[in-house]
Parts: sequence; structure tokens; C-alpha cells
Amino acid sequence: MTFRIPLLEPAVGIEEADYLREVILRNEIAIGNEISLFEQKISSYTNSTFATACSTGTAALHLALLSLEIGHGDEVMIPDLGYISNISSINYVNADPFIIDTEPKTGNMNVKLAIDEITERARHGHKLPKAIVLIHFLGEPGDVQSLISVSREHEIKIIEDCSQALGAYFTGGKAKDLSVGCVGDISTFSFNGNKIITTGGGGAIATNNPEIHENIIYFFSLKHNKLKDTIKDSIKYPFNYVLSNISCALGLIQFQKLDCILAKKAEINTTYQKRFEGHPQIEMTSESQFGKGSKWLSTIILNSKVLRDHVRMSLADLGIESRLISQPFHFILGNRLNKPSEFINSTNLYETSLTLPSSISLSRQDQEEVIESILSSIDGAS
Ligand SMILES: Cc1ncc(COP(=O)(O)O)c(C=O)c1O
Repeated sequence: MTFRIPLLEPAVGIEEADYLREVILRNEIAIGNEISLFEQKISSYTNSTFATACSTGTAALHLALLSLEIGHGDEVMIPDLGYISNISSINYVNADPFIIDTEPKTGNMNVKLAIDEITERARHGHKLPKAIVLIHFLGEPGDVQSLISVSREHEIKIIEDCSQALGAYFTGGKAKDLSVGCVGDISTFSFNGNKIITTGGGGAIATNNPEIHENIIYFFSLKHNKLKDTIKDSIKYPFNYVLSNISCALGLIQFQKLDCILAKKAEINTTYQKRFEGHPQIEMTSESQFGKGSKWLSTIILNSKVLRDHVRMSLADLGIESRLISQPFHFILGNRLNKPSEFINSTNLYETSLTLPSSISLSRQDQEEVIESILSSIDGAS
């Protein structure tokens, strides 16, 4: 179904077309300088020593787990809200997810719960997770800085999934003013068509750790003369996760537009906030108290699931696209879950929230139409 007012559209134009034409005429579609230039942009923007462009954000998550040598029998802690890649990547390496509830209004991992779980297990000498994937959900910075000391103490690695959060930064702590992705051991990014910037499809993985980087490079391409052995003499097979030069060329032009994109996203979000402020049945998802978000996808919370579903249907009837946030992971995993406890916050947020059109091409007029349609849908429901 195509919508008159779409949720998220890539922001590409004549600058991208001109540059891609040049790269095509140079016949540097697959391999060329743009790959390393794009990687340099990512590493300098995210204060990482090493950045590797790869084929998708999902591949970046897979590479992150492979490079940390996470495998069968290992556990990876993740928040209940994110994207399906967060659990599929754990499954690719045969590890087990351990899911933590989120904060009520941002959807970010409730870091206090994670710390309590780790501390409690450590006190009883129980097995600890090997890694934590912290997702900066909807582009709002999560409290990764509070996780660092407990994770260092117990040698648990931290992966920051910044797929929705390029441009977001911390506003306090040691990482004050620095981009998300600079606190954990590894950061991952997605540049698919609905992300802050796009390479058509693509991703990246960054780290400051040379050993992790060496592993990433091993696993991400098939260009090896010799394959690595594990202690049990089984071969570690690499993958083909290389991103093409033409995609990186697109990413380079998109990077030049990043500040404008972020400014427009913030403007869209502020307009929604102002227009819904004080409404008894609508609120916006919260801004992070740990940093400034990318405002990737403006999201409202309605005061019931019934009302949320009603608003969603009304918008669809008018040709306006809105979407639910991704299903909580505990829904997907069902009774395979290792800890079927409460996921109250993530469940509430999933059942009552609705993401709204947030493309940078969204005109003032179209945004006004979205807002008015929501308000009258709510009026009609009462
Ligand atoms: C939080 C998060 N992680 C990972 C991904 C996967 O990225 P890709 O679609 O590039 O594989 C996405 C994509 O939507 C995402 O939102």
C-alpha cells in the first residue's frame, strides 16, 4: 500500500545523483576510494579509531558478536524493544538472548534492572552474560555510561546499537558532548532507506579496540588466504558483508547533509510536541535524560490501545502512514524465554504508541494535516 504522506522517506537529491554519476563513469561501482572515505567519516564522527562499512546494520550486529567470539552457550543481554536484527544476530551465533524491560517512556533499556541482574548473579556466582547490546531506541541516547563500571568489573562487553541514533550525543558524564557509540566496546549503525542517512542499504561497525577490529575485518570479507582455526580445530568461516563503493559514495554525500537532516528532524519533533502539549489523551515519547536524541522517528503515546488502533486506522484511511514500534522481543520469543518475568513498560509502550510521519521532506502543510487528523480522530472516538 502506498501512502500520500509516508512515514519515512530517504532524503536524496541532485547532489547524490551527480556524485553517483561521476562514480559510475569512473567505473568504480564495487571498489574505490569512497569506501575508506566513508569509513573515515564514520570513525571521526563517532570518535572511534576503526570503522568498517558493511552491507547492513544486521550484518554489523552479527559481526559485533562474532568479533567478541560469542557463541553457543553464551548469553547476550538486550532490552525488550529494538529491531528483529537484535535477536536474529544473537541466534546467528547460537547464543541466547536475556531480555530486560525498558524505561516506560523512551523504550530504552532500564539499565538499573540490568545492573541489578548482573550484580545479583555475580553475588551468587551464577553465569553472567558475555555482552550487552544497548539500543539507542528511536534515536534517544540510552544510559550506557551507567553500565560501564559493572560491565568492566565482570568483563562483559558492551555493543551500542546506534542504528536509529546517528547524530545523537551524550549531554553528561565522561562522554559529555560526544556522539553515541563512543562508550561501549563496539558500536553499530544502519544506513537503510529509512535511517537518518542512507546508503540505499548498508551499515557500519566501529571500535577503538585493535583486536576486536582485527576480528571484524576477518569475519566481514572472504578475502583470506588462510582461515582461522578455533581451539577445537573447527574452522571459523568468514562472511561476505562488504559494502560497495557506490553505496559508500551515496553515504558520503548524505554525511554532508547530516546537520541539515538532524535540524529538520528536530523541527518536526518540536512541532508535534507543541501541538500535542497538554492534550489529555496524547503525549510524545520522552526525551532521554542522558543526551540529545536524533529525533529519527517522532512517536506519540495514546492513553489506551483501543484509541491507538483507532487513530492508526483513521490515518490509514486518509492515506497517512503511521506504524507500530517493533514488537517486544519477549512476544517473539514466547515461552522460549529464559526469564518470563514482567515486561510491563515495553508492553505498554508497544500497545499504546504510534510512530508518525517524520521524513525530512514532510512539508509544514502535510505535518499540520497529520496533526489535525489525529486530533479529530480522537475527538471522533470520544
Ligand atoms: C535498532 C536497529 N538495529 C538494527 C537494524 C538493522 O539494520 P538493517 O536494516 O540495515 O539491517 C535496524 C534497522 O531498522 C534497527 O532499527
